[in-house]
Amino acid sequence: MILVVGGAGYIGSHTNKELNRRGYQTLIYDNLVYGHKESVKWGKLEVGDLAEEEHLERIFQENSIDAVLHFAAYAYVGESVAKPAKYYKNNVCNTIQLLDIMRKYQVNHIIFSSTCATYGVPDKMPITEDMPQKPVNPYGATKWMVERILEDYRKAYGINYCCLRYFNAAGADPEGELGESHMPETHLIPLILDAASGKRESISIFGTDYPTKDGTCIRDYIHVSDLADAHIRALEYLKQGGESTCFNLGNGNGDSVRHVIEVVKQVTGKEFKVKEEKRRAGDPPVLIGSAEKAEKVLGWKPKYAEIETIVEHAWKWHENKEY
Ligand code: UFG
Repeated sequence: MILVVGGAGYIGSHTNKELNRRGYQTLIYDNLVYGHKESVKWGKLEVGDLAEEEHLERIFQENSIDAVLHFAAYAYVGESVAKPAKYYKNNVCNTIQLLDIMRKYQVNHIIFSSTCATYGVPDKMPITEDMPQKPVNPYGATKWMVERILEDYRKAYGINYCCLRYFNAAGADPEGELGESHMPETHLIPLILDAASGKRESISIFGTDYPTKDGTCIRDYIHVSDLADAHIRALEYLKQGGESTCFNLGNGNGDSVRHVIEVVKQVTGKEFKVKEEKRRAGDPPVLIGSAEKAEKVLGWKPKYAEIETIVEHAWKWHENKEY
């Protein structure tokens, strides 16, 4: 049985689908604060919070857990600056509690959701795993801290881990069964789709004076189903005795905010208002990841690398949203 903590969220639910498709049995532990129970279409759902130590421990007592996939975290960069306590308590302290329960029940494999935000504002592109990690906000710091903790737990207690550093997760299940639905929504692609479908009046570009070709920020958008595939590869790699390590998960391509808006117009055939606004605090101008290591070690290659495909899948979901 695979325990998927935070499996009702965006990336967790897509990974849960893929795990079940490949024959794994899953138990999803999620407090449903940001996750959706409708997205748990496979496996068994146990509603609970990471902070509930006894509840979590009962799960390990009652089930034969082989490995943990840990997606549960608060992930709003802006909020993490205003409310760091919330982020450190949940993302770090509660993760330590989970790791200690794993130790107690001798569950020694964990796949951890990390982020390109652990790199801060790197001075070289594309980003490789060996580059310095200097997070510039509490959210990124919490993820970086857990990476450190995992390495110390490996050495001392033999916990084996893979940290997966996602770039910009985007898109939706190609079969239309799952998609992205955050409340509140802050991510670029779903917000542009809201503008395209008339749910929002316009889309704002945050900053048009960046040192990039068209003046807007560049990000490496990676399809959520490709992320799901990487998780299962990482899990199987650990099970086969692979060494604990970290992987970047991105396409190695960058798309500017303006370009993504153009692609949404093309894919949807809709026109909408685009406003140019000031920079959003804390946004690095360019983030592009090299995933050569994931390709070499895990044999992972994104299947849906084109931004057009990512937007098409996101739009298909957006038009018929179930949650
Ligand atoms: N953007 C806009 N207008 C909007 C929303 C976003 O112009 O209405 C821009 C942002 O300024 C940024 C780009 O679109 O340049 C992408 O923004 P998102 O908010 O979609 O994603 P981020 O790059 O800020 O965040 C992602 C993850 C975080 C992670 C971060 C690391 O969602 O979890 O990358 O930098 F921490």
